Amino acid sequence: MKIGKKDWLFIALVGIVLIVFFAISGEEKTSKVPLDDTHRPYYDMLKAGKAKKEVDPLCKECHDGVKIPFPKDHPEPIRCLFCHKVVKQ
Ligand code: HEC
Ligand code: HEC
Repeated sequence: MKIGKKDWLFIALVGIVLIVFFAISGEEKTSKVPLDDTHRPYYDMLKAGKAKKEVDPLCKECHDGVKIPFPKDHPEPIRCLFCHKVVKQ
């Protein structure tokens, strides 16, 4: 069978979908922001359209590394929501 231009496009598309799929599933391993009373205000802010960038600094009120220590080898604790996703509601 001859592989034409359309077929290559299709193969490329499947490849992209697979790459995106693996990228997302890798990211999902990081623990999610718990959907509890402590964290509900932040869920509400995000739902109200507040940017993640604006919500991130608020996490440090508690997650300052003293009140709640970060695990050893934790990446630099900025942009929390970039890694810790919210739970789908
Ligand atoms: C009012 C204090 C407070 C604030 C503000 C706060 N957290 Fe937390 N967070 C906690 C406490 C307490 C725990 C541990 C108990 C629990 O799971 O609720 C926790 C646990 C977590 C965990 C660990 C979940 C797990 O699976 O063990 C993550 C991730 C997290 N918070 C992310 C965030 C992010 C992101 C923000 C900012 C949007 C944030 N927190 C803001 C108090 C806070
Ligand atoms: C570059 C990605 C990244 C960023 C940014 C980041 N974290 Fe994490 N965090 C991780 C990884 C990876 C772990 C360890 C694996 C896990 O528990 O999910 C972790 C673990 C944690 C834990 C412990 C979870 C548990 O199950 O005990 C808490 C709490 C936490 N992070 C809070 C935060 C907060 C708050 C911020 C922002 C101030 C933040 N993280 C920013 C990647 C990140």
